[in-house]
Amino acid sequence: MQNDLKPKNLFMETIKGIKTDKPPIWMMRQAGRYLPEYRALRAQTRSFLEFCYTPALAVEATLQPIKRFGFDAAILFSDILVVPDALGQKVEFLEGEGPRLTPVTNQHDLDRLNPKIDLNHLEPVFEAIKQVRASLAPQTALLGFCGAPWTVASYMVAGKSTPELAPLRIAAYRDPMFLEHLINLVVKSSIDYLVRQFQSGVNAVQIFESFAGALPPELFKKWSLEPIQRIIDGVRLSIPDAPILVFARGSGLGNKRVATETSATVIGLDWTVDCRWAAQEIQSLKPIQGNLDPLALVAGGDALKRSVDHILASFDRGPYIFNLGHGIVPETPIDHVEMMIRRIRG
Ligand code: CP3
Repeated sequence: MQNDLKPKNLFMETIKGIKTDKPPIWMMRQAGRYLPEYRALRAQTRSFLEFCYTPALAVEATLQPIKRFGFDAAILFSDILVVPDALGQKVEFLEGEGPRLTPVTNQHDLDRLNPKIDLNHLEPVFEAIKQVRASLAPQTALLGFCGAPWTVASYMVAGKSTPELAPLRIAAYRDPMFLEHLINLVVKSSIDYLVRQFQSGVNAVQIFESFAGALPPELFKKWSLEPIQRIIDGVRLSIPDAPILVFARGSGLGNKRVATETSATVIGLDWTVDCRWAAQEIQSLKPIQGNLDPLALVAGGDALKRSVDHILASFDRGPYIFNLGHGIVPETPIDHVEMMIRRIRG
């Protein structure tokens, strides 16, 4: 009886496949530069990685959007590029320019990295997880994450953001053995990293395949679906039934393959996916997350209301987590986020 009085954890209910009355809400990149309190906190440290590796700062950044908006899930404040950093690759974030890594372009470069991920180096991340979980209410879920191997490899090989992943795609055609070794290293590292995240207190993890859209469909399985599935299998050897959300941005119809050819728990959709199609083809198999266009949130007004209503109506018949179709952008007005939340929660 007592249990019935406790507020439900909407996020955890939904990922079990239960349709909740109102959907749980969180936003990719919800801790970030659109928040004045984040900008103030961020100003305390020059280096972005140092910020990520200082538990007090990472904890506070993780909690900021929860305190302001009361989201149903918090996502650990960190970055997908801490994995190459803990493999001994030089990683830096340049102000206004994004990440810079010393490129790993062949087997010789790869042989100079650590043979396995140095989890001691990531101890501050695990400490931040423990502290965040201890300060969150039980009805708020805590998400950990990592990048999918194809996405992480794109930064490791090119040394920076490359919108169409030209260097990595050329490597995939020219030197598939090298790329396979690199992907294997990232798979093993991601398993160890995610298992420690669960052991430190996260309730679920999301795998970000931000560049699924760069792969031709016939290579999607080899370089994206299979490595993701190996991570899922590896994590579940240690944490059976670990909830794992997969967000394969730009995969279009391939999202159905993510649902059927991996054992992902939840399928995250970007804003280009037709909600009606996904409701019919995917939501009948697995819970859906997404897929508001982050730029509709920048625009606000009636366009935002219409977009939110369309998504809610489309996914109304099954388990569904409200989210954006990619990370929130720094220009987003805070009152638009508030309006979005009111529209969803009623
Ligand atoms: O979602 C959250 O609030 C948690 C934190 C988080 C960050 N990065 C913080 C961050 C998460 C989940 C990520 C994931 C990430 N990082 C991805 C996958 C998701 C996606 O966006 O597709 C990727 C590709 C990266 C790599 C990355 N990190 C880039 C390309 C950049 C520079 C671009 C930019 O937005 O500045 C980062 C830096 C970064 N990671 C920032 C934040 C808040 C901005 C840097 C700062 O605040 O100084």
